[in-house]
Amino acid sequence: MPSISILLILVVAATAAATGCIHDCCSNNTHAAGAYVNGTVHMKDSPWTPFDAPMTEGFNLTNGEDWSFEGVSADGQSGMGFTFSRGTVAGHALAQRMFLAVVWPNGTRFIESTFADVSTIQACKYATKGTWYNGTSGMNWTFEATNDYSRTLVKVESATVRGTFTLDAISPAIYPNGLVYPHPRGDNWFAPYLYWVENVPVGVAEANLTIRGTPFILEGIGGRERNWNSFAWAEISTSWDMVRGKVGPYTLMAWRFESKIDGQTYFSSVLMKEKDVIFRTLAQHVSTTEPYGSFNLDNNGTVRLSSDPSAATSLPESKHTGYVLEMVIPATEKRWRFEVDYTKCVYWFAAGSDGRLGGFVGAIKGGLVGGRQYSGRASGTTMEKN
Ligand SMILES: *[C@@H]1O[C@H](CO)[C@@H](O)[C@H](O)[C@H]1NC(C)=O
Ligand SMILES: *[C@@H]1O[C@H](CO)[C@@H](O)[C@H](O)[C@H]1NC(C)=O
Ligand SMILES: *[C@@H]1O[C@H](CO)[C@@H](O)[C@H](O)[C@H]1NC(C)=O
Ligand SMILES: *[C@@H]1O[C@H](CO)[C@@H](O)[C@H](O)[C@H]1NC(C)=O
Ligand SMILES: *[C@@H]1O[C@H](CO)[C@@H](O)[C@H](O)[C@H]1NC(C)=O
Ligand SMILES: *[C@@H]1O[C@H](CO)[C@@H](O)[C@H](O)[C@H]1NC(C)=O
Ligand SMILES: *[C@@H]1O[C@H](CO)[C@@H](O)[C@H](O)[C@H]1NC(C)=O
Ligand SMILES: *[C@@H]1O[C@H](CO)[C@@H](O)[C@H](O)[C@H]1NC(C)=O
Repeated sequence: MPSISILLILVVAATAAATGCIHDCCSNNTHAAGAYVNGTVHMKDSPWTPFDAPMTEGFNLTNGEDWSFEGVSADGQSGMGFTFSRGTVAGHALAQRMFLAVVWPNGTRFIESTFADVSTIQACKYATKGTWYNGTSGMNWTFEATNDYSRTLVKVESATVRGTFTLDAISPAIYPNGLVYPHPRGDNWFAPYLYWVENVPVGVAEANLTIRGTPFILEGIGGRERNWNSFAWAEISTSWDMVRGKVGPYTLMAWRFESKIDGQTYFSSVLMKEKDVIFRTLAQHVSTTEPYGSFNLDNNGTVRLSSDPSAATSLPESKHTGYVLEMVIPATEKRWRFEVDYTKCVYWFAAGSDGRLGGFVGAIKGGLVGGRQYSGRASGTTMEKN
């Protein structure tokens, strides 16, 4: 007769197998480069899906998903951006890609795209871990985040880059409609074939990397977000501008996206104070009753996004040098205004046949119109067409 303890082990093992709950209820979602399904794959659109979870049920020959990160140093003179991608990215179908770009204070840049054989998202009860791994090249990028997004740790080991990046959230996780996760009316759809959420609109960022033997140390602010698209970016977008920033007591996030699918412009603007959203809108048209905002290009600053001086070919510079943002609540007659000026270009490369995609870090100033004005730091991305 089996002993009680053996019976107990059998019962526990059977329960674990039935629920998938082995250590801390972890489950793995693994994708290998080149593996695909034919036809439509479901893109997750439930407001309850955790922001770091895989958002597409497999990959076909066109869809993809990204986990993107940014950082700007406290002095605005160095910056970085990196993205973990699965699926179609930059002309590569069914890829498992890592993209990294940095700029040092003296303007020297580094940019790299490397490809993993396999990526795994391990979702546990309190934390989620992503691993992009290539056993041949030795590349191993991981991110580990608490499921409340308060802390994210990224570790890198590769032939060119090694070190860590940390992000401690100072703003809440938000959907494009500005509601705080989790929320029954949170909507992660932003534009046709494009879903987007901000896991960490703004956080305290620290990078300690060694890139081809040269240290890259960054202490400042940053943020991270998710996108999942049915088709490659170049197929769905005509242009877009994205900015995140910390200025005085505020953190903010704004997006403007011109869809190639329906020709419409999609917009979102969110202003936060600590963990509270104090302004949110999807509206760009002036109203006497509803909150609205604007996110316009500015071209009277001194820094333009441009090709790396050491690059073989040089693209036209950006037509603008920053942004002006306004946020208006007619009911309370509150109006905020912020100006963003680029301080450094992190990257600027060709996107499609007639576009350019850039990453920037910048200075931001502003506040409540008629109230105290503040200065801070911003970062973001921009895509421009001829
Ligand atoms: C899940 O993936 C992690 C790597 O992220 C690995 O360490 C672990 O062994 C995997 N677990 C299972 C059950 O495959
Ligand atoms: C997808 O469809 C094509 C054409 O019918 C077929 O050759 C291919 O094997 C299919 N791939 C998968 C993964 O089912
Ligand atoms: C892939 O799935 C998306 C839905 O997410 C669908 O719109 C698209 O047409 C599919 N692509 C292919 C090649 O089947
Ligand atoms: C710029 O800074 C980087 C990092 O410190 C250094 O490796 C590089 O030599 C510098 N370049 C110039 C032209 O001074
Ligand atoms: C993994 O790295 C090796 C060596 O750099 C490379 O040849 C291979 O293409 C990479 N795997 C994928 C799926 O790209
Ligand atoms: C990849 O890096 C993670 C984090 O440092 C580590 O836990 C894991 O063991 C590494 N995987 C391999 C295969 O080296
Ligand atoms: C960066 O990491 C290295 C290696 O772990 C460590 O020796 C160094 O003190 C770190 N530097 C900073 C500024 O944290
Ligand atoms: C640049 O233009 C904006 C309005 O577009 C204005 O608010 C700002 O003062 C101008 N900056 C300079 C340095 O002239």
